[in-house]
Amino acid sequence: MSTAIFFDQFGEADVLRVGDEDVPAPGSGEVLVANRAIGVNPADAKVLAGAFGRDRPLPGVLGFEAAGVVEAVGPDVDGLAVGDEVLWHGTGAQRARAVVPAANVLAKPANVPFEQAAVLPVAAATAFSALVQAGVSDGDTVLVHGASGGVGSAAVQIARALGARVVGTASEANHDYLRTLGAEPVVYGDGLVEAVRAVSPDSPVTAVVDLVGTPETVAQTTELLEDASRAVTIVSSDASRAAGIADKVDQKGALAEVLALAEGERLHLEIAESLPLDRAADAVRLVQQGHTRGKVVLTA
Ligand SMILES: NC(=O)c1ccc[n+]([C@@H]2O[C@H](COP(=O)([O-])OP(=O)(O)OC[C@H]3O[C@@H](n4cnc5c(N)ncnc54)[C@H](OP(=O)(O)O)[C@@H]3O)[C@@H](O)[C@H]2O)c1
Repeated sequence: MSTAIFFDQFGEADVLRVGDEDVPAPGSGEVLVANRAIGVNPADAKVLAGAFGRDRPLPGVLGFEAAGVVEAVGPDVDGLAVGDEVLWHGTGAQRARAVVPAANVLAKPANVPFEQAAVLPVAAATAFSALVQAGVSDGDTVLVHGASGGVGSAAVQIARALGARVVGTASEANHDYLRTLGAEPVVYGDGLVEAVRAVSPDSPVTAVVDLVGTPETVAQTTELLEDASRAVTIVSSDASRAAGIADKVDQKGALAEVLALAEGERLHLEIAESLPLDRAADAVRLVQQGHTRGKVVLTA
């Protein structure tokens, strides 16, 4: 038997319960991973709330990403062996042991800790995809709305690695943090457009990644950017679509790219909270507040 976090109905974090499950042997093309760390994302709270639809089987298990050690290998799997340290993406990650398609598994470099590897598939790969789609490169000044969260922390570092100058929005308490990541911080809300222009009078914003997606961030993006084709959002809405701001599309190979940055010590996500798996409900409550600095992880 193995521990997993189940929900029997949609709702708030209170509906999550710790339970036991039998772990099947991995089938063809699958591996069994003993998870060591599991990333927690706003999407977990959204799934739980039923925001992504309620036509999924119950009981359900949250979680889109994890890192751990291969415990068993099914038939027809090449390149993975028992004892390998790996990270993986998929669904149902909030469990101590998970059967996963081998196609969703990457080898974890020895110098990337489990907690770091576990948070790359969602936050960092999303940030990479959005920046590449916006065409961010050397010479750009990119504005990152929501720069201190999970995706934002990754976006700042990846944009810097791509050679861009970065202006990032966050609450004042996170401004020193943003500076350590390489961004020039501005407070979000009223006056943001003027504040951005004030920090970069000689190099106006040439690209925007919106990780917040409010009508306010859409309006600010439109005001700051002459060319809407250089803006990408990961939280789309009627307002972003009306403004011609593209939705992020996952870029092929994004996870391998951010893993290489992590291995090269050019990408590191602050872990705001690391909680044991049986405190998954507390972890979901934390990310639901929408003010995480870096990431929340569960450990198994
Ligand atoms: N489309 C996709 O593939 C995809 C993938 C990943 C995430 N997402 C979505 O993207 C959003 C961000 O994800 P995340 O994991 O980065 O979330 P997160 O870790 O909770 O970070 C949210 C950040 O937004 C900032 N923030 C809160 N309210 C703001 C506002 N009104 N204006 C500007 N910034 C504000 C917060 O900064 P302060 O704490 O400094 O206030 C916080 O650092 C979520 O809605 C998530 O569901 C989409």
